[in-house]
Amino acid sequence: MDPPCSLYLVGIGPGDPAYLAPAARRALDTCNDWVAYRLYLDLLGPLGDGKQHHDLPLGEEIERARLALKLTLEGRSTALISSGDIGIYAMATLVFELLEGEFSEQANHIQIEVVPGISAVQMAAARAGAPLGHDFCTISLSDLLTPWETIETRLHAAGQGDFVTAFYNPVSRQRDWQLAHAKKVLLDYRPASTPVVIARNLGRDDEKVSFTTLAELDPQRVDMLTLVLVGNSESRMLDNGRWVYTPRGYRKKLNANTALPSEARP
Ligand SMILES: C[S@@+](CC[C@H](N)C(=O)[O-])C[C@H]1O[C@@H](n2cnc3c(N)ncnc32)[C@H](O)[C@@H]1O
Repeated sequence: MDPPCSLYLVGIGPGDPAYLAPAARRALDTCNDWVAYRLYLDLLGPLGDGKQHHDLPLGEEIERARLALKLTLEGRSTALISSGDIGIYAMATLVFELLEGEFSEQANHIQIEVVPGISAVQMAAARAGAPLGHDFCTISLSDLLTPWETIETRLHAAGQGDFVTAFYNPVSRQRDWQLAHAKKVLLDYRPASTPVVIARNLGRDDEKVSFTTLAELDPQRVDMLTLVLVGNSESRMLDNGRWVYTPRGYRKKLNANTALPSEARP
């Protein structure tokens, strides 16, 4: 029997190739066929010269995953590409669903390699300072695939647990009320002055990162190319809005000038 063919599931980071992991670059170099949404191929620029591009539009995610599997089964070295991390609200999960379903009989002939990338939440955090210094969660506000009741339950859980909360897919052309609702839920649990980071087009030419507070968060300023990061009840804005960070409890230690317990050492 022929050896299994490799399908690389590659996260390319937020945009700028400077944030493309070396392992992702190697996987992209290895593969002749690149399957992706056009914007991601554009972000990769000259790295894609000489590659066979398959750019299916937004909304055709299932077709994109199917095509990547079919190309792989034809023996072509194939990369399926997503921005950020391909396992975070992205294509990797769809590939595994297809492998469990309509491709189950061929699954043994395909070897999957998942190559991680820097997700939008990490890039936003790096631009902002250190807002993820304590426990955090991410919530996608898209109710296209997830019932709103589920999302609402998770919003309350994030509020009750006082998690720093990153909102992916905060709004889109068809969805304009979910972020306002999420804001209202979190305001039940944390102060109006809670810092919020609004990060748009991270790692791309027109990147814009701004800070506001939970009470002043204006959903009209947010679009689908934006990640919204809400601090927890202890997150702080420094330097008149230059940085946001979430303390992890070092202050007591710093004041007491004592050694940290081993599990708290960075
Ligand atoms: C379908 S999710 C894809 C997430 C991606 N796989 C990741 O790990 O970053 C799309 C959402 O991610 C966020 N996002 C992705 N790339 C971004 C970027 N460069 N700047 C800001 N937000 C981004 C936005 O909230 C957008 O609506």
